[in-house]
Amino acid sequence: MCGIIGYVGSRQALPLVLEGLRRMEYRGYDSAGVAILDNDGDLGVARKAGVLANLERLIDGGSVALPGSTGIGHTRWATHGAPTDRNAHPHRDTSGRVAVIHNGIIENFSPLRAELEAAGVELTSDTDTEVVAHLLAREYNSGTAAGNLPASMAAVCARLLGAFTLVATHADVPNVLVAARRNSPLVIGVGAGEMFVASDVAAFITHTREAVELGQDQLVVITPDTYEVSSFTGGDADFRAFHVDWDTEAAEKGGFEYFMDKEIQEQPDAIANTLRGHFDGTSILLDEQRLGDDELRTIDKVVVVACGSAYHSGLVAKYAIEHWTRLPVEVELASEFRYRDPVLTRDTLVVAVSQSGETADTLEAVRHAREQKARVLAVCNTNGSQIPRESDAVLYTHAGPEIGVASTKAFMAQVVANYLVGLALAQARGVKYSDEVARDFADLSAMPAAVAETLTRMDPVRALGQELVDAKAVLFLGRHVGFPVALEGALKLKELAYMHAEGFAAGELKHGPIALIEEGLPVVVVTPSPKLRPLLHSKLLSNIREIQARGARTIVICEDGDDIVAPFADTLISLPSVPVLMQPLVATVPLQILAAEIARARGFDVDKPRNLAKSVTVE
Ligand code: F6R
Repeated sequence: MCGIIGYVGSRQALPLVLEGLRRMEYRGYDSAGVAILDNDGDLGVARKAGVLANLERLIDGGSVALPGSTGIGHTRWATHGAPTDRNAHPHRDTSGRVAVIHNGIIENFSPLRAELEAAGVELTSDTDTEVVAHLLAREYNSGTAAGNLPASMAAVCARLLGAFTLVATHADVPNVLVAARRNSPLVIGVGAGEMFVASDVAAFITHTREAVELGQDQLVVITPDTYEVSSFTGGDADFRAFHVDWDTEAAEKGGFEYFMDKEIQEQPDAIANTLRGHFDGTSILLDEQRLGDDELRTIDKVVVVACGSAYHSGLVAKYAIEHWTRLPVEVELASEFRYRDPVLTRDTLVVAVSQSGETADTLEAVRHAREQKARVLAVCNTNGSQIPRESDAVLYTHAGPEIGVASTKAFMAQVVANYLVGLALAQARGVKYSDEVARDFADLSAMPAAVAETLTRMDPVRALGQELVDAKAVLFLGRHVGFPVALEGALKLKELAYMHAEGFAAGELKHGPIALIEEGLPVVVVTPSPKLRPLLHSKLLSNIREIQARGARTIVICEDGDDIVAPFADTLISLPSVPVLMQPLVATVPLQILAAEIARARGFDVDKPRNLAKSVTVE
């Protein structure tokens, strides 16, 4: 989410900053901007909404001259505020002498903004970042560390909650940049007589391969010849120096072969970022939402509309939302929704789930629901896109830009956001006490670690992918929340490996699909948690025995310690034990990796499956 770069040295900063932004544009392309400082203390800024090329046109058009050898640049993936010129970074204080770029979300920006406004500061954007620029200027001008930019930055960081990488320049101090990080990446590029800071080594890899990775809550001051790292509290700080031996293309993908590989690894962060700021210790806060508790209380039915993987995220959430709220939940393919005259009233909450926010079917479903006076909440990953614009309210997923066409981290973030909607509804309706909400939120908060642990166990899944490269078809079975996971696993395999794949509710086997079972057919079974024993777990065990008796190759996904199912697995994939409703967040991971591995082994481009597009803007 957002790419940032800073440069100090003896060369002109502008071309180096723009080159770094080009290499990081995959991190966001809602807007871009630069601030360049010359040795006389003149600070020039150029910013433009849209892709980086728009900014380059503005600069090349000659309307902005930006000389100087100290520079910062930003490519934005919008979180607070629409993707417009005025919200593009860098942001400046009122005097225009401080410029700041930021990656992340400052959770307490509202009270800080109110504090500044009460002090007479006029803010010119809707962003959380501008608040930092003003706070930094105030500290530098009259704080306890007046005149000291690093100490002023440390004082500001101490007041911020959330996730941030910040880089600041001040017209008083050319050839110096100050950067800070918490829960968001920052690396230093150490050159000869020049220094970089960036979100990603890709930004500076053509200039230096010597890098330093900052730790949590650390601050760095760079000059052309030095970098000095300290903790926010001023003490010594641990950091890691390393040599980058990736080639340039690999660097943009963080060393992975495909963006999708990288995005799969980013899933713990996608979940954590989507949860961030939505619980205050007692209540779920859907602060980006414009539907109040009073309105939520009147809701008598939830309808999730979406396509593809987003639809599967709705199917998963149905189990949780119905369980938590006792409201009926329908999940509908957006492409079918408006053609069947659905029953909608003012008290229906339509949740439109879309990564891109541009999917034509989902957009039309939103329009239809609003015509019928239903209330529409968009769950979306793309700030300012059409679906949130046309909805009554929006809850953003914070998965960051997804480049691989197949949905991975966006799907995970959608499940999590849908769960937050369920908890908010349960709380507003008084179905759950705050200690129950706190427990459920704690379960969700434990998921980044569980998914990270799952990711460490995937070597056997990769080996399995190699074994299945010539399979004619693969079936996926599941029960309870494992059923939509099976559907998602089959979709991933179809779209990436062009292989026939079907997902079924295991209970449906005997009603038809069992006829497909033949000797050697791989069948992936998503086993419900043994916590659902004896009911569902033993039923699924019977299903496994039925297909094994007919010659299927059973690939069993189950949780650690499930000794009952293990003897019936030809291949066993054991995952961390998590609460029942959280299982999809771990069980989806091996299915994504299996599909990617088979596709790779079959020689296909994992990021760009044939015939598909990332945003489907036609019906
Ligand atoms: C599958 C996939 C698609 C999308 C679907 C909806 O891997 O990516 O099925 O989930 O096209 O897209 P959004 O979420 O952008 O509306």
